[in-house]
Amino acid sequence: MGSPLSRRLNKPAEEARRPLAEVRPLEAPPPAPAPVAEKPTDDTHAYIPPPKRRTTPRVADLRRQLRPKLLAAPNEADEWRRDNAEHQKIIVDRLNVFLQRANLQLPKPEFDELREALLDDILGWGAIDPLVRDRSYSEIMVNGPEIIFAEKKGKLIETEYVFDDDDHADWIAQKIVRRMMRSFSREQPMTDARLPDGSRVHLIRKPSALQGTTMTIRKFPDKVLTVQDLIRFGSFTQDVADFLQACIVARLNIVVAGGTGSGKTTLLNVLSSFIPDDERIVTIEDAAELQLTQRHVVRLETAPPIPGSKDGTGQLVIRDLVKGSLRMRPDRIVIGECRGGEALDMLQAMNTGHDGSLTTVHANSPRDAIARLETLVLMAGMDLPIGVVRRQIASAVQLIVQQARLKDGSRKIIQVTEIQGMEGDSITMQDLFVYKTPDHKGAGPSHVGGGTLQPTGYRTKFGERLEQAGFKLSGKMFGGGVPNGAK
Ligand SMILES: Nc1ncnc2c1ncn2[C@@H]1O[C@H](COP(=O)(O)OP(=O)(O)OP(=O)(O)O)[C@@H](O)[C@H]1O
Ligand SMILES: [Mg+2]
Repeated sequence: MGSPLSRRLNKPAEEARRPLAEVRPLEAPPPAPAPVAEKPTDDTHAYIPPPKRRTTPRVADLRRQLRPKLLAAPNEADEWRRDNAEHQKIIVDRLNVFLQRANLQLPKPEFDELREALLDDILGWGAIDPLVRDRSYSEIMVNGPEIIFAEKKGKLIETEYVFDDDDHADWIAQKIVRRMMRSFSREQPMTDARLPDGSRVHLIRKPSALQGTTMTIRKFPDKVLTVQDLIRFGSFTQDVADFLQACIVARLNIVVAGGTGSGKTTLLNVLSSFIPDDERIVTIEDAAELQLTQRHVVRLETAPPIPGSKDGTGQLVIRDLVKGSLRMRPDRIVIGECRGGEALDMLQAMNTGHDGSLTTVHANSPRDAIARLETLVLMAGMDLPIGVVRRQIASAVQLIVQQARLKDGSRKIIQVTEIQGMEGDSITMQDLFVYKTPDHKGAGPSHVGGGTLQPTGYRTKFGERLEQAGFKLSGKMFGGGVPNGAK
């Protein structure tokens, strides 16, 4: 306690709301603190955080006091742009007027720092503005004001950026949710949103997020990754792409499984691109990320309750949308992710004529994906016996494609597994393709880079169905083996 930062954090809210004429003019600017790495106290193997790029204390103080005052209304600049010269001029002119009125003359470097800081807060995304604008970062993670990580080329690194304090991070969070008419407050402490460019944002705050405002931003890709891109990256082979295309056209129901950030949504998008143009597709997502190029697409996204409503008025959850979509005459339903009871509605839809549907689940192996689906179905609260649930899954889902982020940061398909049916009370499965590295011994896939997705020697049991859809796949594709199920 007692540091300039904690003093700022503990400052009463009234101070921030004082009219600008009362902004405290400081006599001499305090020297700018040099960026220093926080030194670890223990041995040489300890993690050393990068030097932090902190705003000087006086600029941070002025920035906090001034940012609400430079706007006629909190949302005035929500649609303005950081790179728009006219918008910048409006803010800088107002800043000059305020500083004059407060009789505050700042040395040029300090004025420049304050101007850029305010432009970032009002027109951009505050401390993380450079990360949001730099397209080479694919993900930004704010763990409270002090610690900001970002992913670049598959590698997660701690960045030099920091918010001045939690108010500062909250200012940006409010800006993000306001544009979407969502709220982020003690009443609504966790929410999802999107940046104007489509990037997905998850927000959570105190008391649940102990470090304060926590943001996870998944950047919207500049360019939608295509099947050819993923083959080029080595995420899967041309053979596997051909096989998956055949499965989609032949209307197999497919579940993409994978851990957080493993590339499930990207793969779902690529698989969806194989859906023929003349089919009606309904996509259902929490925060719309899919970018299908077909024209006959209805895009649905969940809706939060109207801010301030106590009884959830206006809310639509994935389950509502799945049920509703069945009345929209879809040929295909693509559900961004199954996370709850909607899994039951989806399986029922898959079993009742909406075959060729696609979804993702959070799971680390195909077997785990089945267990996850079972749990999700039980969450629907229908009290179904487990045997019934398994039978539903076994008859609804034909293929599980396992995606993973490997130890080297690359994202790949590591297993393509067919559901064969039931044996007693268990679901039987067969791997068709498994990712292996040369020195990998175990039966399952390898999780380190440098391998290939290899056929297991088992041929798909849906060969006839694929043929009827116009795909004659050679036995070589599957490693020259016998049809799956015939062994
Ligand atoms: N095969 C791939 N090769 C390289 N980068 C990829 C690949 N697949 C996805 N990515 C990138 O990885 C990041 C995460 O991808 P994606 O959003 O598809 O993952 P996810 O599993 O759906 O994540 P979440 O669990 O958060 O929903 C994105 O930046 C995406 O562009
Ligand atoms: Mg996803």
